[in-house]
Amino acid sequence: MTAVVQQALRDGVSVITLEDPPVNALGIAVRRGLAQAIAAAQADDRVRAVVIHGTGRGFSAGADIREFGRAREQPWMGEVCQAVEACTRPVIAALHGMALGGGLELALAAHYRIAAPGTRLGLPEVQLGLLPGAGGTQRLPRLIGASAALDLMLSGRHAGAGEALALGLIDRIAVEGDLLEQAVAWANALSASGAPPRRSCEAQGLADRAASLAALETARAGLARKFRGQVAPFRIADAVQAAIEQPFEEGLRAERAGFLQCIDSPQREGLVHAFFAERRVRQIPEARSGTPRPVRTVGVIGGGTMGSGIAVALLDAGLHVTMVERDADSLARGQRNVGKVYDRLVASRRLTEGDKAATLARFTGATAYEALAQADLVVEAVFEDMAVKKGVFAELDRLCRRDAVLATNTSFLDIDEIAASISRPQDVIGLHFFSPANIMKLLEIVVPRQVAPDVVATGFALADTLRKVPVRAGVCDGFIGNRILYVYREAASHMLEDGASPYQIDQALEDFGYAMGPYRTADLTGGDISWAARKRKAATRDPRARYVRIADLLCERGWFGQKTGRGFYQYPDGARTGRHDPEVLALIDAERAERGIRPRAFTDEQVVRRYMAALVNEAAKVLQDGIALRPLDIDVTMVHGYGFPRWRGGPMKYADTVGLAALLADIREYEKEDPLFWQPAPLLVGLVQRGQDFDTLNQGSSHA
Ligand code: CAA
Ligand code: NAI
Repeated sequence: MTAVVQQALRDGVSVITLEDPPVNALGIAVRRGLAQAIAAAQADDRVRAVVIHGTGRGFSAGADIREFGRAREQPWMGEVCQAVEACTRPVIAALHGMALGGGLELALAAHYRIAAPGTRLGLPEVQLGLLPGAGGTQRLPRLIGASAALDLMLSGRHAGAGEALALGLIDRIAVEGDLLEQAVAWANALSASGAPPRRSCEAQGLADRAASLAALETARAGLARKFRGQVAPFRIADAVQAAIEQPFEEGLRAERAGFLQCIDSPQREGLVHAFFAERRVRQIPEARSGTPRPVRTVGVIGGGTMGSGIAVALLDAGLHVTMVERDADSLARGQRNVGKVYDRLVASRRLTEGDKAATLARFTGATAYEALAQADLVVEAVFEDMAVKKGVFAELDRLCRRDAVLATNTSFLDIDEIAASISRPQDVIGLHFFSPANIMKLLEIVVPRQVAPDVVATGFALADTLRKVPVRAGVCDGFIGNRILYVYREAASHMLEDGASPYQIDQALEDFGYAMGPYRTADLTGGDISWAARKRKAATRDPRARYVRIADLLCERGWFGQKTGRGFYQYPDGARTGRHDPEVLALIDAERAERGIRPRAFTDEQVVRRYMAALVNEAAKVLQDGIALRPLDIDVTMVHGYGFPRWRGGPMKYADTVGLAALLADIREYEKEDPLFWQPAPLLVGLVQRGQDFDTLNQGSSHA
């Protein structure tokens, strides 16, 4: 027996224990151990039943993700599951913590399942660009029906023990106490009653073939929209079709073919990169030296778009929130903004009136800063204006507890300057949320020069409390995300003026995988906001820099996007999806004529290449300036804050996939047209010269 799998005989029951911290991933040693243990139990006449369980945090989190992309070693998990299911004594899986991916597939191959309360069960493979590859696509639908199985496999979500019981995924929920003891007692009872192995491959969940096929058709109908460009969800549907229409063994073969197609795909590589990047962003220099300050009560200043969204995010995480606005009317509006979010949840039955009341009981409002005197942390989300922000921080300096963390949600302003304006710069940090703040996963944690390490650690701990993905950023105009965004938006506007239409640019980028192209996004967020930013920056703009006026011309007509019924698109009668607007195209044509630009055609591929070259080039400058710690921090920022397709791993991962030399060659080509805008990042040039890629830099720096 390998050390990671133990086996012992207990009351005639062979107890097989997975013991491979942190999450009992099913790496080669565990698979070998399991195969040996099952074979030994089968060969031992004293064994009347088998219990498989895990120690530590959970039963198993599934395949060892670190093994993907390496040579595959036998036995693979599908064979282990086959051996478990074929066992002639009843096999009971005793689950706790998590039973995910291959871990749940192992449990499905067992004959009976018991789970501790609080166990999370799921097949999250789709989130890694995979399908369950150890028989899960065949056993699960047979066990719980096509509809429920497709829901679990296509969402990758975790079901709780209660739901799992209702679905028939498990047979019983253990009472609080010793799970293993209960599983062994059950195993003994089963063998005493002569209960036979009950195999999932023989379960009748697909007996109603017509209903199963109808469920499959319904699921398939939504795939193209929901998973544009992705492969795994379609292979999952194919595997379920095989489960419905073919014998079990044939179905396993279909699953295997789909699995092999996915495991070697760049999408799987991109998603696994994203998985590890989302964890490594938490490895920061301050993690060692700073212990987070406790945060229970939070002040939010400003009840506008961001303040109200941040308040909801904090309330949803169970914190106490006090909102401060400048007058009673603004406060009432801010409180209404918050209330509306919960009203909508109640209306759509995602929240009960009671839960809404309980949440809002933790929410108070005030028009005087004194209300923040006891707050553990304050987030300022007032107008984007240095004088206003400094005024707010002066008040906080005067009134807040000496150990309070003072945070700003500024998008662009110099946080070093804000910090230096008060008597306790070590307590000032940037917590840059994204709109809508209660939905978007990214939290840029902007680290000013003088901040204390424990304040940074508090920001990261808060992100965990809010279930957000934190990324450490340095201070500069726009930090990581907005600084890069500004540049690739410029590249898009250059193309717009040179001959591409906003609709082509949007479509090309949506086909690339973005949820929304830049012009659709601009219409959604409101053209007036970036217009104001452009006006503010006009005085400091390099006079040699190319400036495209098209967005300004739209704004001058009052076309701010969805909220005014038209922007780059038209939104008649409050429509949410825009229609192409011939007047916008005419306006762009006129502007080109006025500037003496002869429009030229771009292919969709050219659009994407320029856009990505601008993005990656600026990202390399962000890295070089030390604003982002590693390329992976940029990947996570762009995926979780800016709609970059997660299945491509992030822009830096994408750049590595394309090849940095090819990307730099593009930049050098564009540089001939506009040498100021397209200055290649020295860091990028250096990597190409050394034959390295961005991932080299990810490996090189660890801040564990
Ligand atoms: N393989 C290898 N390492 C894993 C892992 C896995 N399946 N799951 C988690 N880990 C590692 C994490 O990288 C992390 O390592 P570090 O401490 O070194 O950073 C550690 O375990 C703890 O994980 P988290 O920090 O994520 O802890 P958490 O409590 O927030 O979440 C979890 C735990 C829910 C299990 C989460 O880690 C998770 O979702 N894991 C992935 C589960 C998954 O996708 N499984 C399917 C694998 S594919 C498969 O099984 C295919 C098949 O059919 C054979
Ligand atoms: P907003 O205009 O919707 O809200 C600002 C609110 O602050 C208003 O309700 C106003 O009454 C209040 N306010 C102004 N001065 C105040 C004061 N002295 N005391 C108390 N309240 C005061 O603005 P929005 O969009 O919410 O932006 C707020 C901050 O968040 C800005 O710094 C902005 O740059 C930043 N931000 C905005 C994002 C967005 O998408 N809108 C995204 C991320 C950051």
